[in-house]
Amino acid sequence: MRTPLMAANWKMHKGPGEAVGFFNRFVEAIGDVEGREVLVCPPFVDLYVMGRKLRDLGDDAPFRLGAQNMHPAEQGAYTGEIAPPMLRAVNCDYVILGHSERRHIFGEDDEFINEKVKAARAFDLIPVLCVGETEDQRDAERAEEVVSTQLRQGLSGVDVTAPDQLVIAYEPVWAIGTGRTATPADAQAMHAHVRSILADLWDEELADGIRIQYGGSVKPHNVDELMAQPDIDGALVGGASLEVDSFTRIVNFKR
Ligand code: PGA
Repeated sequence: MRTPLMAANWKMHKGPGEAVGFFNRFVEAIGDVEGREVLVCPPFVDLYVMGRKLRDLGDDAPFRLGAQNMHPAEQGAYTGEIAPPMLRAVNCDYVILGHSERRHIFGEDDEFINEKVKAARAFDLIPVLCVGETEDQRDAERAEEVVSTQLRQGLSGVDVTAPDQLVIAYEPVWAIGTGRTATPADAQAMHAHVRSILADLWDEELADGIRIQYGGSVKPHNVDELMAQPDIDGALVGGASLEVDSFTRIVNFKR
């Protein structure tokens, strides 16, 4: 009942020229996508051109557009930041929030991420809230506790009334960009834990409908076994989303 969401997070790769090249080849490569939803999250400077191209495709558009971050304020004196209405204006439907690189490199805390999640909801963007433990936290057997705190604080006071208004991405920090993936069983266990927290925050029916993506070294060779897990509802893909061939294979995972 949950449509898998297969997402590309390009991080700080590809300018507008490369983005358009990817767009054209990717649209050709994936053709008619069925039974799954596809999302591409390029750098801010690519959003305008990609948003226009998607709009031109209208109902045939095979994927949706997301940003990798945003500021919670509607506008204001925040040099270097991007506001939620600006993302709406360039055809974005989604926004990644609380990615571990934002948390660890740029010092974003749960409180600030919570403001962003609320702002996304207020401006009709679907937040993809990222959570995940570091290697030390996992070794100390604190992974579940860390993820619970990130979820409870990140979602505090957030108004969600339908399952398609929110996506969670579980990304163990030690698996991001390292080539190390959580085992499908470990990922499944954490996804079930995430869903139990969502049920506690809202109710079981809503929690059952919310998509929980796995992220961290998802590749063509491991996507099928990850997607075979009952609570894994998609993937947030960094490195392997930069090439049309590998991302197409990931989108076309087999269960
Ligand atoms: P990776 O990145 O696929 O390169 O590990 C995933 C992410 O950070 O979203």
